[in-house]
Amino acid sequence: MNTNVTRRNFLSAGGAVALTTAATSALAAEPGAPAKPVKLLGVSCSPRKGMGTAKAVQAALDAARAVDPRIETELVDLGGLNIAPWSPKPPEDDMVGILRKFQDPSLGGVIIGSPCYFRSLSGLAKCFLERLAPLRDPKLVLADRPFGVVAVGGTRNGGHELVIQQIQAILLCFGMIPVGGHAPPSPGGTLLSANDTVAQDELGLKTAAQLGKHVAEVALKLMPLISA
Ligand SMILES: Cc1cc2nc3c(=O)[nH]c(=O)nc-3n(C[C@H](O)[C@H](O)[C@H](O)COP(=O)(O)O)c2cc1C
Repeated sequence: MNTNVTRRNFLSAGGAVALTTAATSALAAEPGAPAKPVKLLGVSCSPRKGMGTAKAVQAALDAARAVDPRIETELVDLGGLNIAPWSPKPPEDDMVGILRKFQDPSLGGVIIGSPCYFRSLSGLAKCFLERLAPLRDPKLVLADRPFGVVAVGGTRNGGHELVIQQIQAILLCFGMIPVGGHAPPSPGGTLLSANDTVAQDELGLKTAAQLGKHVAEVALKLMPLISA
């Protein structure tokens, strides 16, 4: 048997069809089977609770939930919480409870939101992401879970794509899978907060919704493979 599978003979042998069928059946719930929940956590890394970043992450989560009844979502708003940077002696702060949420075996994906601060992620986002370190070693607890990033800035082109890339670079260290929005494809959610609200940024809210939808779709495909 020829085991040297090239892209051409894989496709001509119907591999693409088989792959598509496998992906589709992974997305669909088994008929009659109890619907296993797939949890998506959204984290708002703005020090200002309930403001633009939280609203943007919520928009992504709402769109994710609309994809399928199996999707469950929770917003973790870090605004006002006490989260120190990583240190050799784990600080006893609000991160303790948040880490527990990330260890939930039904966690299928994550959406991280950060304000643009000097074209970079917020200090709070950096502290939070550093403190996920226990989920990386000795075991990659979050491996193969999709994640998306939402960036909120006070100006158009205020460093949004840089913030998305910075957070993607960090979560790649956890074996997670970066997902953008579609269609059309986008690197993530990019929102303008004008007059201290994102409510008027229809296009930006759409990018957040498309991101949430895509993270949910990928999580539904991957969770049966992860938990098998
Ligand atoms: C220290 C600081 C730096 C900022 N730097 C930028 C920036 O580089 N680009 C930008 O678009 N907005 C910048 N902003 C504006 C915030 O990104 C914007 O107000 C955003 O809505 C904050 O999110 P929030 O409403 O969730 O707090 C900055 C704000 C602060 C406080």
